[in-house]
Amino acid sequence: MDWGLKNRLARLVQPDGRCLFLPIDHGYFQGPTRKLEKPGETIKPLLPYCDALFVTRGVLRSSIDPANIKPIILRVSGGTSVIGKDLANEGITTSMKEAIRLNVAAVGISVFVGSDYERESLLNLSRLVDEGEDHGIPVMAVTAVGKELEKRDARYLALCCRIAAELGARVVKTYWCEDFEKVTNGCPVPVVMAGGPRVDSELGVFEFVHDGIQKGAIGVNLGRNIWQHDYPVAMIKALRAIIHENATVKEANELFNTIKNVTAQVV
Ligand code: 5RP
Repeated sequence: MDWGLKNRLARLVQPDGRCLFLPIDHGYFQGPTRKLEKPGETIKPLLPYCDALFVTRGVLRSSIDPANIKPIILRVSGGTSVIGKDLANEGITTSMKEAIRLNVAAVGISVFVGSDYERESLLNLSRLVDEGEDHGIPVMAVTAVGKELEKRDARYLALCCRIAAELGARVVKTYWCEDFEKVTNGCPVPVVMAGGPRVDSELGVFEFVHDGIQKGAIGVNLGRNIWQHDYPVAMIKALRAIIHENATVKEANELFNTIKNVTAQVV
């Protein structure tokens, strides 16, 4: 592996081999997602606790201070919207030249395995990997399911992750599921977990993140369950404890409640 590519991956994956990426890219197809109307304000208190931001070039330029020292994973696929015909019909939206200009640590692209646009999205991934490897920029593949959230089972996600790795992704982002070890065991590159739509209890989030880490994920790329929560700082710190300090679910929940109570007193 080339020095530049190694260096970029080392900025993303911490010395303990783990990572907490904070995605704020949702607007690229959802518009002004709840609590992400002003992304710069949403992330201000969270920045110290994440290892990288996953973001589009538009929000990066408009809302992130260039003096920010957190590595950037640039979302470079899109071209569809929640009200359009098919979310899977994405193309590459941002050139490698732009990624280099923005000094990013990696680029990210969605693939839609099993959709009508499976072939296009997988060939887009391959092309991006070719260009990324030329410039020492790793590609994170996102195994997207569009609106069909029920697709998220081990058999399907294992298939998606393996294909993304075979095509050259250096990191794969997928969803947690039951029997998650089937996903990580079949994927020869590191796997990170997304959160999906906001779930009812923070305990549920701690449980699946903890389970996924035990079963081989190296971390998360988790957004809405952090920044849509009423106590986002407590959430990110508790998740950080699971990922980087091997905290149990109980310890993470206790940490969450302690920070939440202090925050509630201040507010
Ligand atoms: C949206 C994405 C997000 O980065 C990904 O889904 C993680 O965010 P969340 O935890 O909110 O699901 O790819 O397009």
